[in-house]
Amino acid sequence: MLSLEKLTKKYGDFTALNGLSLEIADGQLHGFVGPNGAGKTTTMRILATLLKPTSGTATIDGVDVVRNGTEARRLIGYMPDFFGVYDSLKCWEYLDFYARCYRIPSADRKKMTERLLDLVQLSEKKDAFVDSLSRGMKQRLCLARSLIHDPKLLILDEPASGMDPRARAEMKTILRTLREMGKTVLISSHILPELSEMCDSLTILDHGQLVFSGSVEALSEKMNGNAPLEIRLQEGCGEAAVDTAVACLKELPFVKEILQEGTCVLKVRTEGGEAEHMQMLREMISRNIPVCDFHRAPMNLEKVFMEVTGDA
Ligand SMILES: Nc1ncnc2c1ncn2[C@@H]1O[C@H](COP(=O)(O)OP(=O)(O)OP(=O)(O)O)[C@@H](O)[C@H]1O
Ligand SMILES: [Mg+2]
Repeated sequence: MLSLEKLTKKYGDFTALNGLSLEIADGQLHGFVGPNGAGKTTTMRILATLLKPTSGTATIDGVDVVRNGTEARRLIGYMPDFFGVYDSLKCWEYLDFYARCYRIPSADRKKMTERLLDLVQLSEKKDAFVDSLSRGMKQRLCLARSLIHDPKLLILDEPASGMDPRARAEMKTILRTLREMGKTVLISSHILPELSEMCDSLTILDHGQLVFSGSVEALSEKMNGNAPLEIRLQEGCGEAAVDTAVACLKELPFVKEILQEGTCVLKVRTEGGEAEHMQMLREMISRNIPVCDFHRAPMNLEKVFMEVTGDA
């Protein structure tokens, strides 16, 4: 559905986006994550045909967004990070206005407006003035607007920012509905755990460069592949038992680092895979070391985010 190839955007001498290449398959809910200034909005504005890339290409369903902007615009629904709403309009009038812009026939407009308000859970606010809506409601109304022309790809720039937990949960439900409708969704945020919960795949961007792109499972695997093993010895087992365990681990060539946490928890970084881990456990049990828990400590996604976006 979406294909970026070496997409680059410079503002004067400053490179905001540096050779970004990625593919997003049909029907994916794809998260676009990165810290402030990573280049998320820049990428999305290029896709929305509001900004020209300095070099590289972006195609949506085979349509080049630069060479064929008009056709690309038919395929996308864009929800910007900030949006102007029209104060003196009621919610239904707001959607009706945009439906007219998209030349939706008058016979269809009323039904469509009602359907969209229902989708974003704003039916009750049909006759309310737009400026009387809460921030989260305005965002949902804006999402409804981006759906008017039934686009294949939705580009949502931080749709859940500033929302309370309930509104976020509702946004997730709406996104799931969109996926069931067969839409492809690109959604940005700087909160990795939030996106990984609801997306099928993710791209992590930092300083205009790709850090990771792939499925949520692949990201966890990649990150947890480096996560340390946690070995918990029986509570109150005593210093001697811990020393024996450390000595035993030090003998194994694939053990790279041993950290002690608290009195009877060891964290071990290894270079090995499952076979080595089995050997490690066998070795400790055979020496009567009182192991009562042995597992890979899953990396906290917030930590992952700090780690992968930290060094640049
Ligand atoms: N019009 C502009 N002129 C100059 N620099 C710009 C312009 N627009 C964006 N930038 C710079 O490009 C970089 C990327 O900005 P962008 O808005 O794409 O980041 P972002 O990932 O959306 O960040 P945020 O999470 O804060 O929304 C930033 O360093 C920003 O200052
Ligand atoms: Mg942004």
